[in-house]
Amino acid sequence: MKFRSKVMLLGVTIVLLPMLVSTFAATRLVFSQNEKDAHERIRESTARIIRELQSIEAQYAERGRKYAKTDNLVMYTNVLFRYHKYLTPEGYATVQNSLSVDLTKLKIGLNVDNIEVRDAYNKLLARDASSGAAVPADAAASPVRAPRRDGTRYLLQGGRFILQSTSTIQKRDRLLGYLILTKYLDANFLKEVSGVNGTEVAFFRNNRFLDGTIARFPVTEMAHSDLAHPIQIKIQKTPYSFIFSPIYAEGNDQYYVAVGVSYLKTLQKINETARILIGVAVGAMLIALVLIYFWSGRTVGPLLRLVNAVQAIGRGDLGQKITVESSDEIGLLASEFNQMTTSLQESRSQLEDANRNLFEMKEYISNIVDSMTMSLVVVDSGFRITVVNLEFEKWLGESRERLVGRSLEDLLELGDGALLHKHLLRVIETHETQILTKVHCKIGTRKIVANIRFSPLEDVEQSSAGVVMIIEDITSRVNLEEKLAISQRLASIGNLDAGLAHEVNNPLGIILNYIEVCRMDTQDEKLDSYLKKIGSETERIAGIIQRLLEFSRQSETRFKPVNLPEIIEETVDLVEFKLRKENIVLERDYGLDEAWVMADKSRLKQVFLNIILNAVQSMPGGGRLAVRLAESGDGQGFDLAFCDSGRGIPKEHLSRIFDPFFTTKEVGEGTGLGLSVSYGIIQEHFGTIDVKSTEGKGSTFTVRLKKIASEERSSALS
Ligand SMILES: Nc1ncnc2c1ncn2[C@@H]1O[C@H](COP(=O)(O)OP(=O)(O)OP(=O)(O)O)[C@@H](O)[C@H]1O
Ligand SMILES: [Mg+2]
Repeated sequence: MKFRSKVMLLGVTIVLLPMLVSTFAATRLVFSQNEKDAHERIRESTARIIRELQSIEAQYAERGRKYAKTDNLVMYTNVLFRYHKYLTPEGYATVQNSLSVDLTKLKIGLNVDNIEVRDAYNKLLARDASSGAAVPADAAASPVRAPRRDGTRYLLQGGRFILQSTSTIQKRDRLLGYLILTKYLDANFLKEVSGVNGTEVAFFRNNRFLDGTIARFPVTEMAHSDLAHPIQIKIQKTPYSFIFSPIYAEGNDQYYVAVGVSYLKTLQKINETARILIGVAVGAMLIALVLIYFWSGRTVGPLLRLVNAVQAIGRGDLGQKITVESSDEIGLLASEFNQMTTSLQESRSQLEDANRNLFEMKEYISNIVDSMTMSLVVVDSGFRITVVNLEFEKWLGESRERLVGRSLEDLLELGDGALLHKHLLRVIETHETQILTKVHCKIGTRKIVANIRFSPLEDVEQSSAGVVMIIEDITSRVNLEEKLAISQRLASIGNLDAGLAHEVNNPLGIILNYIEVCRMDTQDEKLDSYLKKIGSETERIAGIIQRLLEFSRQSETRFKPVNLPEIIEETVDLVEFKLRKENIVLERDYGLDEAWVMADKSRLKQVFLNIILNAVQSMPGGGRLAVRLAESGDGQGFDLAFCDSGRGIPKEHLSRIFDPFFTTKEVGEGTGLGLSVSYGIIQEHFGTIDVKSTEGKGSTFTVRLKKIASEERSSALS
């Protein structure tokens, strides 16, 4: 709910609540006052009726008795009662009429409804003239017998409720008859006597409604009624309050006068009051609403602007200012708000500057890191990658997004495998830099030789946060160094110039010559066998010298375009018999019909022969030799691979097999010159020779030679 609606609701509640309370209180007040008033009227009316009945009773008793003693009445009664037999009917009627005239006078004087004179046997003698026709002389006795004594009583006569006063008529103690005054206690009487506005009156005998100013209604519990506790009765849907007051009792019969007041008027009054009050309340509420609406508009307006401004700040617009003229709390809030946005703006621009600097710095550093020719990788204390540089990405062929979070040990393997874990752990534990040089590693699928530097990475609390590793790939440098070393070693042999070789060769020739001479001259067989041995050993020296000479005879190399498959075939022809004899299967897989290179044919054949013979010698019990020719990976030349299933070369020998005189063969079996000579020849051809070997499984020697274009070939041939 909006603030303004809340304020308005509050205002309406504040106005409406007292209004409702006062309406309720006012209606209660009206009700209780009206009730009081009604009770007052009931009380008054009841009092009047009872007073009137008592006065009638007393008056009738007194006047009736008095009249019963008058001479006229006594005389007439005496005549009609005792001497009627002696009267003519006319005489009887005359007497009766005279009595009736007197009774009529009395009736008017007493305001009584009916007066009768009855004889001692209760036979009607005369009645007032206005009460009906003259009573015939033989008129029957009244069905209701009057009590034979003076007195006043209430009774039902012919369905009518009446007050009857009886006075005895006597002549010197002799009872002649009765004077009976009757007052009808009917609606008319009640209307006359009640005399209080708005009251309804009725007579009851026990529970039975006798007569009244109101329609007949049933009652069950009048005994509970008293002035403090009127009975609530609904008569023809109108609520009434009735009080029942006893007026007379005879035997089991109890007579009541019931006085009631209708509540209708009270209720109408209450409704009217409530209507007025509600009208006033609604009016006041409307006025309050209008006032609150305008007032809240003035109050909420600046608050709304504040809210909008705060929302704009939330969206990042800090240039928000609010103008509020009022000097109340809202005005204060607005000025505080303006100050806040100003300082927010300042700190944001500072923050932006700092951020920019930081970003530039980060970019700068990451550029440095990425422009390193070495791989940089940072791991956390769990050896998971947190940072890598461009070089590392290149090595693994994967983006840094895919590398970060992975375990370094899954991607990098050092030496025998446990080396990486050991060094990382050591750096984390000791906080000291570790350096590994010329270590063989496997990064992804790539195998390299590297120098690795492990540096501890510390966080702000100086505790270990991980390790920074810089990996420098020195494979090509190491290879180069190795090749350089071989070349240097070969060069030193190459320096044995032909002159020196001749210096040795010539004496050897002379020695051999003399050995032959000596052998021809001697008859001693023992001596001859010694000379033969000397001869053969000297020939061996001469052979070695010969090969050394070949090795250093560079100038004689003659380059011509040659087709590799042809040379290989020619070489294989030379050893075919030997291969069969040694139980070696030869597999040829040339893939190319033509593979032209610039080469000295005979020297190249010598290289291939050396490699094939080495292979044969590594498979004394037979085996398989595969010769494969293919275009080299870079497309610049041809790779010729000799792959044997021989005993392989131990790791520690690998770096030495190209050295002159390195051999593992028995003395006399190998000179150790085969591969070094071959190496020299391939170098002359601007090619390379590489070896891969697994001990016990076999070795592969690969010769790579530069190819020549066909134009080059034809121009060379011409
Ligand atoms: N295919 C191969 N399998 C196993 N070892 C090899 C193979 N080729 C060369 N070698 C090793 O390299 C050494 C040097 O070879 P190299 O051809 O230079 O000399 P050699 O064969 O011993 O003697 P020479 O060739 O002069 O008769 C060998 O003694 C042998 O130990
Ligand atoms: Mg050899």
